[in-house]
Amino acid sequence: MNRIPIRVTVNGDPRVADVEPGLFLIDLLRDHFGLTGTNRGCDQGDCGACTVLVDGRSVNSCIMLAVEADGTEITTIEGLPDKGTLHPVQKAFIDEGAIQCGYCTPGMVMQAVAYLLGNPAPTPEEARWAIEGNLCRCTGYERIVKAIRKAAERMKGP
Ligand code: FES
Ligand code: FES
Repeated sequence: MNRIPIRVTVNGDPRVADVEPGLFLIDLLRDHFGLTGTNRGCDQGDCGACTVLVDGRSVNSCIMLAVEADGTEITTIEGLPDKGTLHPVQKAFIDEGAIQCGYCTPGMVMQAVAYLLGNPAPTPEEARWAIEGNLCRCTGYERIVKAIRKAAERMKGP
């Protein structure tokens, strides 16, 4: 099958790849670029485990074709820390105990980061709504909601 050349920026690094037309973004990230922090759950766009940012917007990478990402800037969970310092959302998830098995966590964190870009001071209801497309089998969501709000407070500063 013919391959299509694409160029993307992933976590600040320019990358090129020759991809099959039917390759999904999650497979580009995991198999071509070795960024295995993005997890595969349902593979149908229903669970949010595979969430990454594309040009600042959260997407389910299991249902976006790699060729659709041509020319975009992609951020994965590996790209969130700044010079070894965890992103405030990552730190808040740890501090609030919002992680149990951790399978949903990269997608949850990426979704929260994207949401906070548009709403830097969410109410509990808004924080809950922000992750409505992200499923967690372990935590009951309460601590995740608290973590999102704690991160928002910290990012706002004094
Ligand atoms: S693995 Fe992509 S939404 Fe579930
Ligand atoms: S912490 Fe286990 S699925 Fe969310």
